[in-house]
Amino acid sequence: MTTQIRTGKEILLAARPDGAPTAANFELVERPLPELAEGQILVRNTWMSVDPYMRGRMDDKESYIPPFQLGAPLDGSAVGEVVESRSDIPVGATVTHFAGWREFAVVDAATATVIDTELASPQHYLGVLGTTGLTAYAALTEVARVKPGDTVFISAAAGAVGSVAGQIAEALGAKRVIGSAGGAAKTALLLEEFGFDAAVDYRAGNLKEQLEAAAPEGIDVYLDSVGGDHLKAAIEVMRQAGRIALVGAISGYNGAAAEQTPDLYLAATKEITLRGMLVTSFFDRFPEYIGRAAGWLADGTLRTRETVYEGLEQAPAAFLGVLSGLNTGKMLVRLG
Ligand SMILES: NC(=O)c1ccc[n+]([C@@H]2O[C@H](COP(=O)([O-])OP(=O)(O)OC[C@H]3O[C@@H](n4cnc5c(N)ncnc54)[C@H](OP(=O)(O)O)[C@@H]3O)[C@@H](O)[C@H]2O)c1
Repeated sequence: MTTQIRTGKEILLAARPDGAPTAANFELVERPLPELAEGQILVRNTWMSVDPYMRGRMDDKESYIPPFQLGAPLDGSAVGEVVESRSDIPVGATVTHFAGWREFAVVDAATATVIDTELASPQHYLGVLGTTGLTAYAALTEVARVKPGDTVFISAAAGAVGSVAGQIAEALGAKRVIGSAGGAAKTALLLEEFGFDAAVDYRAGNLKEQLEAAAPEGIDVYLDSVGGDHLKAAIEVMRQAGRIALVGAISGYNGAAAEQTPDLYLAATKEITLRGMLVTSFFDRFPEYIGRAAGWLADGTLRTRETVYEGLEQAPAAFLGVLSGLNTGKMLVRLG
């Protein structure tokens, strides 16, 4: 089947940032779409994800994922409707794929996943039922396992990974779940909406003292999304043989020197396990996770929030916003 769609808007990397990125690092252009080859689909993107890890891809550095290329469109997770197909995925299907940051995407069908929009809203597959949800689940069920009775500390707790992680920790039997976030509105949300037992506003004063007050008996499990001051304080307040999932280190993504270095000798003497993780290593657990999380969403165990920017032209602002904390829950861009 063919359509009349032959050009599409997309966002290019216009310049690499020096420190914190700005709108000037991005450019919106309209370009011709390539013809479909056998095995490909044309997708009209309806939602796209912006994620903190994309900051690293703006630098020309070798990493676990290739850098964005200057003058080329950015990419990342997106959801859309198939409008043309030369594959066994039918026109009209809703798919997730990795060619975000554009209105229309020509995608190899083998790299797209048809999603069940009866089970959940399409955009949930970019957040609570997508990689951020799976990150929270894998971190707490495998990387730093939560056991019944544990005290668990979650950083960036009002964000996509953190807000889901706090609720999963509770569902796994944690005795006490503590979250940190920036500002009074977010800490209130942790307590009132996401069911945390205690909330720490890291901008409001000494993090270690706040954490000690929130966890008088110490912490057993820490999900670290921040690094720097948070990792340092968590090690100091951790109990013997605690477990830490090293998930992210957003306080350093713009290259700022870490103001506070974690005391790893203290981690040694406390016999703390620190284990890094990449969610891509847990993709085989997606079906198990989606099954459990869809059940938790349906029965109210899991509550979710999204911050939505409208239109492709707002994607850079949404991305800059997720780095600076303008989101609660998953930061998303709705297209078209
Ligand atoms: N390892 C993996 O495979 C994997 C997968 C997904 C995500 N991650 C990591 O997990 C973390 C959370 O990702 P996400 O997608 O869920 O993003 P998110 O938490 O929804 O958004 C990022 C949040 O980080 C907080 N933040 C920014 N600068 C900070 C700072 N200097 N100190 C403390 N908090 C700061 C902001 O919240 P406040 O307003 O509270 O500051 C912001 O909302 C990131 O580090 C990300 O790289 C890792």
